[in-house]
Amino acid sequence: MKKNIVVIVGGGSTWTPGLLKSLCQKKYEFPLEELRLYDIDAERQAVIGEFAKVLFAEEYPELKFMYTTDKERAYRDADFVFCQIRTGGFDMRMMDEQIPLAHGVVGQETCGPGGFAYGLRSIPDMIEIVRDARTYADDPWILNYTNPAAIVALALERVFPKDKKIINMCDQPVNLLQSFAKILGIQREDIVPEYVGLNHFGWFTKLKDRDGNDLLAPLREKILNEGFLPADAAERDASWLHTYAMVQTIMRDFPDYVPNTYLQYYLYPEQVVARLDTDHTRTEEVKNGREKRVFTQCRQAVQRGTTRGLTIARSEAHADMIVDVASSIAYDKGETFIMITRNNDTVTNFHENAMVETVAHVGRNGVTAVPFGQIDVFMKGLMEGQYAYECLTVDSYFEGSYKKALQALTLNRTLVDAKKARAVLDDLIDANQRYWPELT
Ligand code: NAD
Ligand code: G6P
Ligand code: MN
Repeated sequence: MKKNIVVIVGGGSTWTPGLLKSLCQKKYEFPLEELRLYDIDAERQAVIGEFAKVLFAEEYPELKFMYTTDKERAYRDADFVFCQIRTGGFDMRMMDEQIPLAHGVVGQETCGPGGFAYGLRSIPDMIEIVRDARTYADDPWILNYTNPAAIVALALERVFPKDKKIINMCDQPVNLLQSFAKILGIQREDIVPEYVGLNHFGWFTKLKDRDGNDLLAPLREKILNEGFLPADAAERDASWLHTYAMVQTIMRDFPDYVPNTYLQYYLYPEQVVARLDTDHTRTEEVKNGREKRVFTQCRQAVQRGTTRGLTIARSEAHADMIVDVASSIAYDKGETFIMITRNNDTVTNFHENAMVETVAHVGRNGVTAVPFGQIDVFMKGLMEGQYAYECLTVDSYFEGSYKKALQALTLNRTLVDAKKARAVLDDLIDANQRYWPELT
C-alpha cells in the first residue's frame, strides 16, 4: 500500500486535534508517510503542533511529522492537501454575525449576509492555496471544507475549471445521518440515503435500509412526535441543540423530506432573528467552548506528556469523513458519500454548472455523482434563488461589482428587502476593507 504525504492547511484550526486522532485510528486504512501542518499563524499552530507530537508518540510513533509556516516545505511532494482555514479569524466571524443582526437580519457564518462576507474573504486565500499546492507539489488532491463551502466551491470551479483534483465537502449530511441512525436504533452505515441540494441548503429525499425498506416514514413519525437531537447531544452547545430541534418545525410545515438544519435560516428568518442576540452570538459560544477546550487541552497534553483522558483527542464524524474520502481516493474504493460536485446532468432540471450536494462515489477519478433526476417545484424554486445568490456573490468578487453584491443579497431569502440589503452591505464593506476587493 503506497503511503501518503498529507498537509493540513489551517493547522491551527480547532478541528485539527480530532482530525489527528482520526488519522491515528485509521492508520491502516489510510497510512501516512508524513503529516505536515501549515498555517499563517505560527503561535496558534505551535500549540496544536506540540499536542500532535505527544499524540503521535503515543499512537503513531513511526509517523514523520512537522509543522511549519513555510509553504514550500509544507507542500513539497504532497499527495493530499486538507483545507480548513478561516480568513479573518473569529474576530471577523463575529462581525459576520453581528452586523446583519444589528439590521434585524440573520447573522450566521455561512448563510445570508454573514456567509456572503465570509465568502468574499475566503475566495482569494483558497485560490492562493490551490496555486501554491500546484506550484510546490506534483498535483496533490485538494480536499476543501473551508467555509462557506458553497461559495468557495463555485469560485474554485470558476478559476480552475479543468482541475479535477479539487474536492469540496461538508460534514453536515453525515452528522444528520448519524443522528437518524441513533433515533432509529440502527447503524449509520445501514442507511442508504438520497440527498439533493446546494451546500447548507438541501434535503434527504429518501432514506432506505439495505433491503430497500423505507426509513423516512418511521423517522418522520419519531421527529414529529419526539423532536430531534444530534447524535452527540451531550457534547453540543445550546445553539446547536436548538438548531437540531428546528428540524421538527420544518417537518411540521414541509413533511415530505428531512431538511438540512441550515434551512432554518432561509425558511424562518424572523423566528431565528428573534432568538439570536447581537451581544452573544455563536462566535462567543465557540470561543468559550470549542476553542478554549482545544487550546487548553493541547497545553495540558504537553505538560502531562500524554493525551489520555482528554476529550479533544477523540475522532468525530467530521474528521472520519475527511480521512475516509481521502482513503477512498487513494485506494480507489468507490465508497459512497454526500459530496459537493458540479451538477452536470445529475439533477436534470437544474443548472449544469451549479455546485450541488448529493450522493456520490469517490475513487481515483475523484467524485462521481449518482444520477438524481428531477427536483420538485418547491425545491427548485428555493434552489434557483439560492443559486442565483451564489453566482452573483462570486461575480461580485471577480468583477469588484457593488451592483452584483446588492443583487446577491437582495435575492437571499434571509434578506429579501433591497433597502435592507444595501444597508447591511454598506456596513459589511466597512468591516471587510482589509479583505475584500473594492466593490464599485
Ligand atoms: P479556526 O480559526 O480555529 O482555524 C483556522 C486556522 O486557519 C487558523 O489557525 C488560522 O490561522 C488559519 N488560517 C487562516 N488563513 C489561512 C491561510 N490563508 N493559510 C493558512 N492558514 C490560514 O477556525 P475553525 O473554527 O477551526 O474552522 C476552520 C475552517 O473549517 C472554517 O472555514 C470552518 O468553517 C471550516 N469547517 C467546515 C466544515 C464543513 O462542513 N465544510 C466543518 C467544520 C469546519
Ligand atoms: C457543521 C457545518 C460546518 C460548520 C460546523 C461548525 O458541521 O457543516 O460547515 O463549520 O458545523 O460550526 P460552528 O458554528 O460550531 O463553528
Ligand atoms: Mn458545512
